[in-house]
Amino acid sequence: MRVMSRVWAVATCLAVAACSAPKPPEQFNVDIDMVELMIHVVDPASFAFWRGSGTEITDQGERDLSPTTDEAWKAVEDGAATVAEAGNMLMLPGRPREPVAEWNKYAQEMTLRALEGKAAAMAKDKQAVFDAGGRLYEVCLACHQKYVIEPTLAASPQTPTQAPGR
Ligand code: HEC
Repeated sequence: MRVMSRVWAVATCLAVAACSAPKPPEQFNVDIDMVELMIHVVDPASFAFWRGSGTEITDQGERDLSPTTDEAWKAVEDGAATVAEAGNMLMLPGRPREPVAEWNKYAQEMTLRALEGKAAAMAKDKQAVFDAGGRLYEVCLACHQKYVIEPTLAASPQTPTQAPGR
């Protein structure tokens, strides 16, 4: 009986596929808002990438943070790949903020710089991972300055940075 119903299901799918033209995937779910997307996707992914380069000062002196195992290199590359894809997520219908052209430019730039980082991690090139990390950070900062910090300043003249005594 089980086999029969499976055969039936396959036959139905074939019939449906035959009479309906394939549709481009134009339905996206963007229920996750911008703050959540940043906190749960962009931020952890970029940290997974950034964690894999530079140095840390410990009691024993300076410690190289670069990966030492294939697994750890992969984690750095995974982070970069996720940031690269997150650039696309930022441009899904419903996500971009005005001015949209500029928003999309930052999102695309984020993807490009993350891809450079991914390539560097794949090549296990410590210096290139570090440099790409810096360039990636610049895009985060630039977009935040445009869409997060400046609009906030414009909206309220009494922001903490301008408040007396600061
Ligand atoms: C295309 C623009 C854009 C880019 C690029 C971008 N962000 Fe954001 N980010 C935003 C916006 C807009 C907000 C504020 C969301 C809000 O307040 O509605 C934000 C907020 C955040 C927040 C704060 C969330 C909170 O707690 O309020 C973090 C953390 C963050 N981004 C991390 C990053 C990192 C890391 C990168 C770079 C790898 C990055 N973002 C790149 C637009 C961007």
